[in-house]
Amino acid sequence: MSRKNDSSPSKQRSARTPGQPKFAIAIMAAGKGTRLKSKHPKVLHEIGGKPLLRHVIDAAKHIVPAGDVYAIIGFEADRVRQAVGGTGVRFIEQLEQRGTGHAIMVGREALANYDHVLVLSGDTPLVRPDVIRRLRDFHLQRQAAMTLLTVEPADPTGYGRVIRKSRSGKPSDEVNAIVEQKQLSESQRKLREINSGIYAFATEPLFANIQKLSTNNPHREYYLTDMAQILSRAGARVVAFKEGEIAETLGINTRAELARLDAQLRSKRCAELMDAGVTIYQPETCVIDSDVTVGPDTVIEPYVQLLGKTSIGSECRIQSGTVIADCEIGDETVVRHYCVLEHSRIGGKASLGPFSHLRPGNEIAAEAHIGNFVELKKTRLGRGSKANHLTYLGDSVIGERVNVGAGTITCNYDGVQKHQTVIEDGVFVGSDSTLVAPVKLGRDAYVGAASCITDDVPEGALAIGRARQTNKEGWVRERRAKLAERGNGRKRS
Ligand code: UD1
Ligand code: CA
Repeated sequence: MSRKNDSSPSKQRSARTPGQPKFAIAIMAAGKGTRLKSKHPKVLHEIGGKPLLRHVIDAAKHIVPAGDVYAIIGFEADRVRQAVGGTGVRFIEQLEQRGTGHAIMVGREALANYDHVLVLSGDTPLVRPDVIRRLRDFHLQRQAAMTLLTVEPADPTGYGRVIRKSRSGKPSDEVNAIVEQKQLSESQRKLREINSGIYAFATEPLFANIQKLSTNNPHREYYLTDMAQILSRAGARVVAFKEGEIAETLGINTRAELARLDAQLRSKRCAELMDAGVTIYQPETCVIDSDVTVGPDTVIEPYVQLLGKTSIGSECRIQSGTVIADCEIGDETVVRHYCVLEHSRIGGKASLGPFSHLRPGNEIAAEAHIGNFVELKKTRLGRGSKANHLTYLGDSVIGERVNVGAGTITCNYDGVQKHQTVIEDGVFVGSDSTLVAPVKLGRDAYVGAASCITDDVPEGALAIGRARQTNKEGWVRERRAKLAERGNGRKRS
């Protein structure tokens, strides 16, 4: 520790600050992400089923209240705002993206109200709250004006390199400068310690010096990284906090990195679930989003996707090829091969599939059975009810112990409006029936197979809505005889 820095502005300042110092978190997320070659904002690209920026916000909210998190947005700002609007964070608009330094200049008015600001990047989604916390503590303990989180990856190409001060030959944790890839000298190119783009600043020295940034660099941008040299030259303390976990602090700049971090995140989630008692066979073939929960003793077979806010109970079995998005599933339910289930609630001890399709808005009660090639939409299916084969049930309210025969179709759409079908407890719908909504089948009613039901069926009644069968006795014999006669005539002529 240098004597000179003991009297640095930040030290005097923090000594004056009574009580706990106040922290803001600024997340730089205004850039376009040119290297992704996308028309969409970089921070809205997803890993683990969530936009990059959402991951960073979720981590930030572990450190400070959402109201002290500022997302600096610019490119497609409205879309970004919309995508993360539910998180409660504040937004700062950087209308023109003139560099990371410029992003913080734009945030000055809001950020200067805090003692310190932790700066994160919207494209560094795997940053763990724990790492941010340790960076913050190190920054306070070293009473630094700027603390940068650094890592030493095997290949540092493309990142800003950290130039540490050396004191009588010994390396120190104090930093002279950060040098961007394009400006590296031959000898600096060998340096492996890189700037992660995650920093803590004391706001007073930061904003007292930020106007010294210039655009004198290959990109003609204001580099926030230049603050290291500016503050260091101004006699303020700039320190590096080196972190062991490399992957977590690396940003995403290319599609290949996007895929790599996505895979990492998902294998981490699989590992966590397995630790919590879930069996996952060939986890590397499964796609499980970050927020998915699964109860113990549930078995997940290869090639399963569990997406969004899906939660699965304990002792379930999810068989290969199934995709489940935003569903809640009770305990001991079996989802057999190749089901596609969206935004639905399914009770315990139920059975679905193979090849069932739940479109959004279904409530499937416990012990219900849904079989192959059955599609449901906005349908409530009561306890123990069954629709086992080749059926479409839309906009329906179906009671308990109902048996929906193979090939049953609710005709819920008249070309203009959707209508409801109500099937009360204990009803038996014969195979190949069409139920033309709006229509109601009363309790314990029976529908004869292949009926077209256009009128309500009273409780306990049998409804038959089909043409009556007629049998023509001897018809086949007569026809054969006729054909034979015609054939003989042709041969003779
Ligand atoms: C930056 C660092 C580099 C570091 C690397 C780590 C600079 C100059 N360089 O480089 O030292 O090794 O991160 O990943 O900071 N952004 C804005 N407004 C702007 C420009 C950028 O909000 O005007 C945002 C981007 O959307 C992005 C973040 O800042 O989320 C970082 O910008 P990016 O262009 O990705 O910086 P790198 O080249 O990766
Ligand atoms: Ca980056």
